[in-house]
Amino acid sequence: MRPWLNSISRLRYFNMEQLLKKFFALLDKGVAKNGRAIVRVLQSVHGRWLMRIIFFLFRESVKQYDYSDFSAISFKFALQRALRFIVDNKIEGSYYEFGLFEGNSFLMALEESKKLSVQGYTLHCNGFDSFEGHPEPIGPLDESLSPGGVNKWRKGQYYCDYSKFVGRLDENNIAPDSYSLYEGFYNHTLTPDLQKQMNKAAIVHAACDLYSSTREVLEFIKPLLQQGTIVMFNSFYYGLGNPHVGESAALQEFLENNKDIQFIDYYNYSHMGKVFIVNKALS
Ligand SMILES: C[S@@+](CC[C@H](N)C(=O)[O-])C[C@H]1O[C@@H](n2cnc3c(N)ncnc32)[C@H](O)[C@@H]1O
Repeated sequence: MRPWLNSISRLRYFNMEQLLKKFFALLDKGVAKNGRAIVRVLQSVHGRWLMRIIFFLFRESVKQYDYSDFSAISFKFALQRALRFIVDNKIEGSYYEFGLFEGNSFLMALEESKKLSVQGYTLHCNGFDSFEGHPEPIGPLDESLSPGGVNKWRKGQYYCDYSKFVGRLDENNIAPDSYSLYEGFYNHTLTPDLQKQMNKAAIVHAACDLYSSTREVLEFIKPLLQQGTIVMFNSFYYGLGNPHVGESAALQEFLENNKDIQFIDYYNYSHMGKVFIVNKALS
């Protein structure tokens, strides 16, 4: 470090220490001189109310952490990161979300794509859901292995009525031509005919939790994948680290059957999500 910089930093450190010392000395003096007055104020009616308010605010601030907010915020950052990746690398195509529930993540994608369209980048959003909730889990591969071995996923879980879903998009002023919805269970909706009509995938968000559903999703998007497609899995770690159940089992099986496609580890998000970049022989 240059000598004059060195002396300035020492001076600043010295001043800060002196200032703190002075501050605590004044505080000590104040309490020593007005200690009884402070106690009297705290014992008065107003003082007691003041203490109650401070206690209430403290209790509220340490209340149980709202992890639904955490999941939403971390998904948003994960999505923004994915968008930055596809925009910077000029990866064209659409956004695909499989598993919509009440539309939290789909809405975020639509809001973000609205911002992108201002920059001249088009990202049409396709959403797929039964709007009847999860199908019947097929067995051990669909289990989430929650503590006690209880199968977390249930038939009908995450039910959301189609009209309620569309109503929510309308309330948020989403232009109807910016998205397409496909209603029904994947074994009916994800057909080869539909596959042929679809754009390449820029971002895929597999948010359907179950091995059986994710497997159908991966087969459907296979020809839509391109070099650099981002694939996000919402419940990748639901098997408590066991890679042989749920979404991670579906991906493993898919990669074993499709040796020409690689999923490159990119990043994790929220407490269960994982993101990959597709590496595929250029065709
Ligand atoms: C965890 S929720 C999706 C959460 C949503 N992305 C959000 O932001 O709140 C899972 C969704 O996947 C859908 N789903 C799962 N398997 C399906 C299948 N085989 N066919 C159609 N929808 C399915 C369920 O209906 C449910 O809405």
